[in-house]
Amino acid sequence: MTERRRLAVVIGGGNGIGAATVRVMAARGWRVVAADLDDAAATRIAAEVEDGVGVGLDVTDPAGMEVTAARIEADLGPVAALVVSSGAFHDSLPPHRLSDDDWSRVLRVNLDGTWHADRIFGGRMAARGAGSIVNIASVTGLFSSPLLAYGTSKTAIIGLTRNLAGEWGHSGVRVNSVSPGVTLVERILKHRAAGTRYYGSDFGTHAAMGRSVEPSEVAETVEFLASDRASAITGIDVPVDCGWSTAAGWEMFGGARPPVTPEATR
Ligand SMILES: NC(=O)c1ccc[n+]([C@@H]2O[C@H](COP(=O)([O-])OP(=O)(O)OC[C@H]3O[C@@H](n4cnc5c(N)ncnc54)[C@H](O)[C@@H]3O)[C@@H](O)[C@H]2O)c1
Repeated sequence: MTERRRLAVVIGGGNGIGAATVRVMAARGWRVVAADLDDAAATRIAAEVEDGVGVGLDVTDPAGMEVTAARIEADLGPVAALVVSSGAFHDSLPPHRLSDDDWSRVLRVNLDGTWHADRIFGGRMAARGAGSIVNIASVTGLFSSPLLAYGTSKTAIIGLTRNLAGEWGHSGVRVNSVSPGVTLVERILKHRAAGTRYYGSDFGTHAAMGRSVEPSEVAETVEFLASDRASAITGIDVPVDCGWSTAAGWEMFGGARPPVTPEATR
């Protein structure tokens, strides 16, 4: 009898970082369910990988998510890992221009949605005594940025992650988050092509490594944290940002030092 592969659910798996995570996890031997509000995209990404399954799922609909979680486990077995990569975004606006609707929409998807997904899938894991959750936060959750509601939601996701890790540590469930820096998904590339304010600039120049992040680089860290290779790690946030979060101190001194040349070291 062949051993059953461990099952992972990637919410937001239809696009961007979530889609890259579906691909990386499948390549590392997981059986992956791509779950997304955009069920056509979830189905498309799932079809790319061995035994992938695509499902429609809305993180703002906890009752529907309960039904989907029960159906996934009845059909495919216990979920060993959950990745929450769904996200809502807003234009960069000062407080007096940001609408209450934008504030509520972004908090509802990013914070409430992550909470509902974690408690529904994580609650089942805790009852079984095993599982791992990786929430996708953002470097905008680590420091001030011109993305008021979004950044606030991401700081809260890092706090939620830490608190759930404490809640479920004795129940065998690890909970961590990953904070990507600017990651070159299609959504960001479109902003850049359109010259959208802030997004139009080359963020990479502000990172210690002088470049932006590839989606697969975030996915590799997510897969590591989800796997038993990270068996002693819980309650932490890992920035995957080419050193963007650490480079702020250099901005105060006028930016990064130019690359070292062979001549300079002679
Ligand atoms: N790309 C970046 O530069 C970057 C940087 C930091 C953090 N992040 C975070 O990474 C995550 C993925 O973002 P991305 O850049 O890949 O964006 P993306 O738009 O490519 O993917 C987001 C996915 O979430 C899905 N989604 C939206 N609302 C949903 C809902 N209610 N229920 C279920 N799915 C829903 C969308 O359909 C989409 O497939 C988000 O949490 C985002 O905040 C991205």
